[in-house]
Amino acid sequence: MSWTKALPVADLGPNARQVVNLEGQKILLLNHEGSIHAVANSCPHMKLPMKKGKIVEGAIVCPFHRSAFDLCSGAVQNWTPFPPGIGKVMGMIKAEIPLPVFATKVENGEVWVDITAAA
Ligand code: FES
Repeated sequence: MSWTKALPVADLGPNARQVVNLEGQKILLLNHEGSIHAVANSCPHMKLPMKKGKIVEGAIVCPFHRSAFDLCSGAVQNWTPFPPGIGKVMGMIKAEIPLPVFATKVENGEVWVDITAAA
């Protein structure tokens, strides 16, 4: 394990999001329903940023081609469904890849991320 201090927990209030750079990795921190999640800010499909992805039924949805990834495990729930028809063709460019997710903890008022624990 490699716990790395990310930011003060006070900077991640309810529904807040922040992208932090930890040892060369851009990681998206989200406070969703009182739980702090850390996921790669880069979508596995075309490496576009996940920061503005909506959270729908426990999954974060990429704002570009709307691939959906389980917020806790990173597992693919839907792969490039958008735009209709074209999205599925774009999805064939690359096999389905889960979104890396990282363990988090809060200690002494700081959010810590285990950057070695991508699932
Ligand atoms: S870049 Fe995220 S689904 Fe295409």
